Amino acid sequence: MSYLLPNYKRFNLSFVDGEGVYLVDSKGEKYLDFLSGIGVNLFGYGHPLLVKALKKAAEKPWHVSNYFVIKSQEEVAKEIVRALFPAKVFFCNSGAEANEAAIKFARLYGKNFLDGAYKILVAENSFHGRTLATVSATGQEKVRKGFDPLCPGFEFFEFNNLDDVTSKLSDDVAAVMLEPVQGEGGIIPATTEFLYNLRMATREKGILLIVDEIQTGVGRTGDFYAFQGYGVQPDLFTSAKALAGGLPIGAMIVREEISDVMGYGTHGSTFGGNPLITSVALEVVRKVKNPVFLKDIREKSKYFISLLQDALGGFPFVHEIRGKGLMVGVELNVECGEIVKNALKRKLIINCTAGKVLRFLPPLIISLGDMEKGVLILNEVLKEFMEEK
Ligand SMILES: Cc1ncc(COP(=O)(O)O)c(C=O)c1O
Repeated sequence: MSYLLPNYKRFNLSFVDGEGVYLVDSKGEKYLDFLSGIGVNLFGYGHPLLVKALKKAAEKPWHVSNYFVIKSQEEVAKEIVRALFPAKVFFCNSGAEANEAAIKFARLYGKNFLDGAYKILVAENSFHGRTLATVSATGQEKVRKGFDPLCPGFEFFEFNNLDDVTSKLSDDVAAVMLEPVQGEGGIIPATTEFLYNLRMATREKGILLIVDEIQTGVGRTGDFYAFQGYGVQPDLFTSAKALAGGLPIGAMIVREEISDVMGYGTHGSTFGGNPLITSVALEVVRKVKNPVFLKDIREKSKYFISLLQDALGGFPFVHEIRGKGLMVGVELNVECGEIVKNALKRKLIINCTAGKVLRFLPPLIISLGDMEKGVLILNEVLKEFMEEK
């Protein structure tokens, strides 16, 4: 019997160790990880740089309140901002919290600068988190169901449909919020034309563009943040998941000129940006923003996608292989839960999202050899699946 709430469906499997891109279960069996704890463990397990930073920080105060200057917090903010554009950073503890901060920011911005505009346009099929406001912003019925009355002030548009979103940019709209690549929704990238023109349209009207980079950020798509690959600069964006290499963190990054909107007393977090977490995040950010590291991800991406095309493209139930960087999805025209279970039996960790999309988010440090190994397992799993049908 478990004493935990039944809100997750778990495999009866527990990992007790890990090294590089492998996890080890309680029987000593090794599993190749193509999921990274849902896009978190970007350097895999036991990375010496992060272990060293964590051990060093563990000897010092783990937590001090945000009443005081936290040097590592300041440094992470500086490293992020210097790689992007003049901005200010707020730290919290998760993706949903970062998006909550962004939603609150948009409300304040609307009050101060847009005659009380309060609405946020959000995409159908999006995912922004599990708090009440972020559930309300999420364009998936299964996530919203049962939580009425939802937080008001959100209106949906069709993802990648420029006419639809621009027709909704009315005077009561303060912001548009979207993921550059819909993650939970099935690895669906925004088109460059859509995101670029949306940026133009929102800028013209003084409406904020909020980019949710929680799954796409920190190198995952082959850029430090995915919006860079689109040639687009948001007014604010959110980051979490991989930002501290496996420790809980969230961040909202706001264009400098408007950052005063969230002034003293408007928002806060007890743990946000504490020394233990930001000491590790600092190592992550310094390593990931290096152009050599990012170029390597883009090269690995091409190889990974070509491997998948060769090994899986021929199956009649494989509909499309798509993605950016090491955020890759294989859309099937059948449900994929069974395939995930069978891959696990062969010691490969993958995931199924949006019912029919196999999702791969391997650690960014994965070698070409381990990609080949995982794709070979996938090929065997799909063959077996076809024979059984
Ligand atoms: C795009 C996006 N936004 C927000 C979240 C929520 O993040 P968290 O689970 O850290 O609250 C997720 C989590 O999967 C996500 O993928």
